[in-house]
Amino acid sequence: MTEMLSVVDLHAEAGGREILKGVDLTVDQGETCVLFGPNGSGKSTLMSTIMGYSNITVTSGQIIFKGKDITDMPVDERAKLGIGMMMQRPPNIYGVKLGDLIRVASPQNGEAVLADADKFKMSGFLDREINVGFSGGEIKRSELLQLTAQKPEFILLDEPESGVDLENIDLIGNKVHDLLYDSACPGRGRHVSSLVITHTGQIMDYIGADKGYVMKNGRIQCRGNPLELLKEIKKNGYGECDACRMIRL
Ligand SMILES: Nc1ncnc2c1ncn2[C@@H]1O[C@H](COP(=O)(O)OP(=O)(O)O)[C@@H](O)[C@H]1O
Ligand SMILES: [Mg+2]
Repeated sequence: MTEMLSVVDLHAEAGGREILKGVDLTVDQGETCVLFGPNGSGKSTLMSTIMGYSNITVTSGQIIFKGKDITDMPVDERAKLGIGMMMQRPPNIYGVKLGDLIRVASPQNGEAVLADADKFKMSGFLDREINVGFSGGEIKRSELLQLTAQKPEFILLDEPESGVDLENIDLIGNKVHDLLYDSACPGRGRHVSSLVITHTGQIMDYIGADKGYVMKNGRIQCRGNPLELLKEIKKNGYGECDACRMIRL
């Protein structure tokens, strides 16, 4: 399988504190990897570091995407290379309407996605400032609409189902599925790669998952079958689970 993303012994700090303390993981082309871990373990920081947000400083290690070292690349260039992210808590963007962002960010694709906004229950939001006054579910649907316009080859999904009601989970799960699978060629299977943070595992019902990682205290503690890891975590929490004992890294 072709390696899409490789994170090698990554150390990074934010606010003067080391948060990532030597992270190693890989995601192959078309693969869905799930990242589990307790609150505060560094999962969102890892995603922000892969995306290249400037509030985080990489102190050592590498991020390789499609064979290219992107560790020091600015966020916009990473987006152009094909990395997209659905943030856990995206900021409000005052003065910029959602529809305008989609038009500007995706000249090829934007109009078609805007015409489809009702399928995301988003047609009433295109003239509103991005995320300003949006509910939890509305923010997630807005993020997905933007990602659909961007069409990334590799998607970082930070808790896509958290704070979302059951009906919206169904919508979000199906739209994430459409992003990862080629709907134009149904037989082709999953062709977009992703790294997904989830606590409940609900999103896996829609997209499947190939590999699971558990992050603790800024490092990947173990990896394994994502469904088995989730079962262990539900049974034993993030302490000494059987999976950890078997495949401790
Ligand atoms: N800008 C920052 N300044 C200081 N500490 C931060 C900053 N960003 C994140 N942290 C801290 O890093 C730790 C990991 O945060 P985060 O990556 O959001 O964890 P997770 O997503 O696993 O819950 C937390 O203790 C958080 O408070
Ligand atoms: Mg987080």
